[in-house]
Amino acid sequence: MKKIFSFLITGMITLSLSACGTGYSKTTFKTTEQNDPATTKIPSEPRSSSNESTNTQSAKETSLIVYFSWSGNTELVAQEIQTQTGADIFEIVPAVPYSDDYNTVVDLAQKEQKENARPEIENTIKNLDQYDTVYVGYPNWWGDMPMILYTFFDTYDLSNKTILPFCTSGGSGLSNTISEISSLEPNATVVNGLHIEDSHLNTIADNVKTWLAEKEE
Ligand SMILES: Cc1cc2nc3c(=O)[nH]c(=O)nc-3n(C[C@H](O)[C@H](O)[C@H](O)COP(=O)(O)O)c2cc1C
Repeated sequence: MKKIFSFLITGMITLSLSACGTGYSKTTFKTTEQNDPATTKIPSEPRSSSNESTNTQSAKETSLIVYFSWSGNTELVAQEIQTQTGADIFEIVPAVPYSDDYNTVVDLAQKEQKENARPEIENTIKNLDQYDTVYVGYPNWWGDMPMILYTFFDTYDLSNKTILPFCTSGGSGLSNTISEISSLEPNATVVNGLHIEDSHLNTIADNVKTWLAEKEE
């Protein structure tokens, strides 16, 4: 089931988060066709993209894609990264599912941010040690990562790993999420993040390709 989310541009509506410094208004985003979060697959642990034995570990088996996606955009990027890298993939699943209703989620996300909440994650990564590189994907929520990403970084120690952040948004870009991740994981190497706007999802493959090539340089 597909769902259309309309973000009407009304400019002066009162819901702007300017008081919080994000510049985000829940009325300023464009129409985007997005996946229904209720239909998103929920792996309990990373799905290996390979049939090869883990005894003969190849480069791709040392990479893991971790992502959270409410309406499917970030998931599309995660899947494209998997297609291009062969990395394993793990979806962060909230223990308490977010509502399918856009306004409800927008309000709850704002509340969670104000309260510095740590929403519980339903599933766990059991074999994080085997990965050197961790791609971490999230939507921009109110000018920041969703608070469940903070739960993720609190839960897992990514010291000595390389983190490649990727983010989708309605126009805010990565905001300060890269420096935030760097301070949450001070002993990791955090490389330049990939950002894709939710109105440019048709460029995912090219953007991922360019980003991965830059990382190799
Ligand atoms: C709760 C909520 C807050 C959002 N806050 C912002 C924001 O501050 N800036 C922005 O550019 N887009 C914002 N958006 C739009 C999303 O970042 C964008 O549509 C993203 O691609 C959604 O990713 P997903 O489909 O993986 O959930 C917000 C969307 C939601 C649901």
